[in-house]
Amino acid sequence: MASPRHFLQIKDLTREELDYLFERTRIIKARFKAYQRHWPLQDRTLVMIFEKASTRTRLSFEAGMHQLGGSAIYLNTRDSQLGRGEPVEDAAQVISRMSDVVMIRTYEQEIIERFASHSRVPVINGLTNEYHPCQILADIFTFIEHRGAIQGRTVAWIGDSNNVCNTWLQAAEIFDFKVHVSTPPGYEVEPERAGLHGTSHFREFADPMDATRDADLVTTDVWTSMGFEAENEERMRDFADWQVDADMMRVARPEAVFMHCLPAHRGEEVSAEVIDGAQSVVWDEAENRLHVQKALMEFLLLGRVND
Ligand code: CP
Ligand code: NVA
Repeated sequence: MASPRHFLQIKDLTREELDYLFERTRIIKARFKAYQRHWPLQDRTLVMIFEKASTRTRLSFEAGMHQLGGSAIYLNTRDSQLGRGEPVEDAAQVISRMSDVVMIRTYEQEIIERFASHSRVPVINGLTNEYHPCQILADIFTFIEHRGAIQGRTVAWIGDSNNVCNTWLQAAEIFDFKVHVSTPPGYEVEPERAGLHGTSHFREFADPMDATRDADLVTTDVWTSMGFEAENEERMRDFADWQVDADMMRVARPEAVFMHCLPAHRGEEVSAEVIDGAQSVVWDEAENRLHVQKALMEFLLLGRVND
């Protein structure tokens, strides 16, 4: 049996495949908006495994699979044997014999890699401690919709060098754009953990204003990611000067857009004025999770289609 294609990091797809995916997303989104039936995955089943909370990821995958003609099953650690110590390799063997594609949200990247290596069907990363590739698919698609190609542009990342940041950094190598990162001391990018080839596509700035200057896209994320709650109090202190506010947006390019993967904390990593302001595209960004993931599932299960 040929081994399936997985999507565990954004670099699991080539630049050319990602460009294809965005083109497919555009078509699939247009059909959805026109209420046209698009059922390429009729009778296929998606299993979604959540070890952490979610609103957007669950909803977009579950609704997306239904809209593609298939069905989706939700499992979480609490009420499956996964929470009672069943080896991930055994779970992968069983789950992948009963389904056509699996999405997992978990802790260490190693867990999803172990699952994928024992799975007969494609596995999609719905967020790990290290990466959030579906989010960055949606973010880049949203940027393209609003501002055109991302190649050669500058993305300012303000805050924690977390899973979403790491994925932006990987995407910068693939699409050839720059990421200007500003984190508090002690929270800097770890290129190896981010899975980078080098450091030529990002620059670190001590002052978040310097990172934001002349950026085409300004983005941030929660100060405390899921799984790091024990550090919350310390992080609130350490990140206090890393809020994206109107002053920061003023030094970015006038046509810069603001993105946030959500959920957001107004008054912490972003001011209400910015996230609810004219430059914010966060609702389009959230909606596009649905469309890019439909294109992704179609691609992983059927390869390229041209209907
Ligand atoms: N952005 C994102 O992945 O949101 P959820 O945690 O709600 O899935
Ligand atoms: N960095 C955040 C993203 C949530 C979608 C987390 O991991 O909790």
